Amino acid sequence: MQHVAIKYDDIVTGFARIDADHKRLLDMINLLCKARSETLRSVLTTQLLTSLLNQLASHFEHEEEFMARLEFGNFDRHLSSHCKIINSMTLLVNQYDASGDLDHIINFMTTEISGHIADEDKQFASFIRQRRAKQK
Ligand SMILES: [Fe+2]
Ligand SMILES: [Fe+2]
Repeated sequence: MQHVAIKYDDIVTGFARIDADHKRLLDMINLLCKARSETLRSVLTTQLLTSLLNQLASHFEHEEEFMARLEFGNFDRHLSSHCKIINSMTLLVNQYDASGDLDHIINFMTTEISGHIADEDKQFASFIRQRRAKQK
């Protein structure tokens, strides 16, 4: 697998705070991809996974506050998607502690997390853009 799993340009929503969070998450995911093929493993990888999980939870919390404030119509579905991602990531990180197998985590992040950003987060970004256009 290539080291850079996701390209930042593919997931830009156009909203500075959200994009900055996504960029930080993406940098961490790409670092983990690199860790897979280098001898960074063990303690460093565990720390990185824990930081990534915390960063993800904090980012989701921020997005959810933003959505609730703007009364986003698909809020419940988006919230459910965040919960599923956090639950799956928590499980995978716990499994990593026992197995040391990074492949499942990287596959999950490069499909589910990047997919969420590219699909559902972009729908939210589009909703904000439409709402702002109406206000002008
Ligand atoms: Fe997001
Ligand atoms: Fe989201």
